[in-house]
Amino acid sequence: MRIDILTVLPELLKSPFEHSIMKRAQEKGLLEVHVHHLRKWAVNEYGQVDDYQYGGGAGMVMMPEPLAKAIEELSKERKYDEIIFLTPDGETLNQKISNTLSLKENILMICGHYKGIDDRIRQHFVTREISIGDYVLSGGELAAAVLVDSIGRLLPGVLNDETSALFDSFQDNLLAPPVYTRPEDFRGWKVPDILMNGDHKKIEEWRHEQSLQRTSERRPGLLD
Ligand code: ADE
Repeated sequence: MRIDILTVLPELLKSPFEHSIMKRAQEKGLLEVHVHHLRKWAVNEYGQVDDYQYGGGAGMVMMPEPLAKAIEELSKERKYDEIIFLTPDGETLNQKISNTLSLKENILMICGHYKGIDDRIRQHFVTREISIGDYVLSGGELAAAVLVDSIGRLLPGVLNDETSALFDSFQDNLLAPPVYTRPEDFRGWKVPDILMNGDHKKIEEWRHEQSLQRTSERRPGLLD
């Protein structure tokens, strides 16, 4: 899978993909992330990409021309399955959306800034608008990083143990069960006996019960 990201703050998107699972995904050639500086398509030599909003009001708006030119230039190289705008008024990200997006070949993400982007770009280029939660960030970059991470780890071969994404919280609308590691007795706090007896069938049953219990206590809405 290839993900292109358009941003006015490319530096913000360097580190998130240089570590751990995202790093491995790229090293294995399963994921390519290309970050593009929107100023490359600025309207003038000063690197302008934003302007005052029509109708008045505080805050700048990202101009349509740099975004349209960037999208068109990048689209010449490959057809994007989705052009995603990260925005607090988009559909709220969940595991199902990440699963669906992980099946795509090419995704372009647009990070908004200031007051947002000229609405004509949303109307004529963007195919999907995604929010990572009901709060407002300073820009779309951190949201894009979250989205790339949640998609990238689902690509076949990225996680060492192929099954481990299957048991993530939310993968079947259930929260993950509790986990334990050594020592068996930590300050007198013991690991549940069931995990120590080697009966894998019983352990799976226990984990499933724990998942159900956690979900009904913490996120009952998921069980509907
Ligand atoms: N940009 C600013 N806030 C955001 C959010 N919550 N989700 C996605 N993009 C954003």
